[in-house]
Amino acid sequence: MSRRKKLEYVKTRYDKTETEFIQENRVYECIDFSNCPHKSECTKVQGHRWNMSFKRFLLRGLDKVNLEGGLLCFALNIKRMNNVEKVRKCSIIESELFKKERENMITTYSNQKESIKEQEIKQAAEEIKKGNLVLFPTETVYGIGANALDEKAVKKIFEAKGRASDNPLIVHVSSLAMVEDIVEKIGDLEKKLIQTFWPGPLTIIFKRKSRQIIPNIVTANLDTVGIRMPSNQIARKLIEYANVPIAAPSANISGKPSGTKIEDIIDELDGKVSYILDGGQTQVGLESTVIRVEEDSILILRPGKITKEQLEKVAKEVKIDKHVLQEVNSNETVTSPGMKYRHYAPNTKCMMVCGNESKKVIEKINELTNQTKQNKKKVLVLARKEHLPYLETDKKWNMGDNLEEIAKNIFTLLRKVDKEQVDLVIIEGVEKQGLGLAIYNRLIRACAYQCITLEDEKKK
Ligand code: TXA
Ligand code: MG
Repeated sequence: MSRRKKLEYVKTRYDKTETEFIQENRVYECIDFSNCPHKSECTKVQGHRWNMSFKRFLLRGLDKVNLEGGLLCFALNIKRMNNVEKVRKCSIIESELFKKERENMITTYSNQKESIKEQEIKQAAEEIKKGNLVLFPTETVYGIGANALDEKAVKKIFEAKGRASDNPLIVHVSSLAMVEDIVEKIGDLEKKLIQTFWPGPLTIIFKRKSRQIIPNIVTANLDTVGIRMPSNQIARKLIEYANVPIAAPSANISGKPSGTKIEDIIDELDGKVSYILDGGQTQVGLESTVIRVEEDSILILRPGKITKEQLEKVAKEVKIDKHVLQEVNSNETVTSPGMKYRHYAPNTKCMMVCGNESKKVIEKINELTNQTKQNKKKVLVLARKEHLPYLETDKKWNMGDNLEEIAKNIFTLLRKVDKEQVDLVIIEGVEKQGLGLAIYNRLIRACAYQCITLEDEKKK
């Protein structure tokens, strides 16, 4: 059942990207015609070139699958393939190779986009109870979840992500009772924050109970624990049905941008989780705001959708940790371990241009673009929609019309950058206010802190 489901899922979700896929021409790269028993009728896949894109491609032709002489044959859907010169009729995959792939394909997929199917959330919850991993949507980004009370299950998260063991996980809850079980005390300001912002994209760092029920692996041995109650219905139901708090970091290999749609992360996480709940694109697009309460003030450790300005309505004072905007030096200690790590960064060199006046920012981007092109290097520019017509380059992507849209799009865009094979990506900066602070915080990391601020340049 699980396999059927997966295949159906892949078929529906990847049909749309067929053209894109063909354009990449990766199909041809994978194929060697020489060993085919059907001679020119078929093509043979070379094991070492086997990649996810090709796997998807084959899965689309599934209606024509049959087993023949120990080989799994695929008659590709010829109608759909008309425009591909190089791949004609069918492909054969060595059965051994496919068997191996199939063993890894234990993931059950369920597409929740249209409606939330209780039964599927219940099945995913069963996987959590069994100590397995589930990929699930939250309102911020997708999470890879495990039973937060089960040390072995949580270990699987660290393995799947390649995450450093000193970087603690956020515990997701569906009720206040769950919080009370875990934390020493819920202070007055914390109560107010919970009342105002939960369920929602706010993570609060609490002191752990001395009699610890959350294993040390979750909190990386800290005496604190980060907790949030997501507003996404699928996420909350998953926790309710599992009846345990769920530890979940963002769904991505460590260092990569967080996943905001399944399509973006399926390649890197397929086969590593037992169940995928697909809730479509996440609403916010950036991870939760992480805060710590210090007497009657709040310290922001990671900015997010809940802004400093919103928090100021609840607390006397709201401070921003210096490492939200500044790079961590090797000799410095940090208030949140996640600050130390490389984040969101494409392999391609990225830089940001910031300034108070959009016109000047665009001028600077054009100057840098032209300089780079003169050096025979390729540039891609990411800018707000309204500025695209003023950019003196063809390679330009729309980040969005406003901060909400930029937040929603930015991780998907950063994930696509490396496919463009350019030498430099220039990104239009955003203001460091409201939701802009969270976007800036992610972008500055993606740019490895390479940022030109026009006002600073003037002072020099
Ligand atoms: O929106 C989100 O927060 C998403 C979704 C899945 O809920 N989760 C997420 O988790 O972004 P992750 O693991 O990618 O980021 C959690 C951040 C890390 O930077 C970690 O260091 C910090 O929260 N953190 C967790 N527990 C902490 C603690 N006890 N003290 C300080 N920082 C903590
Ligand atoms: Mg993360």
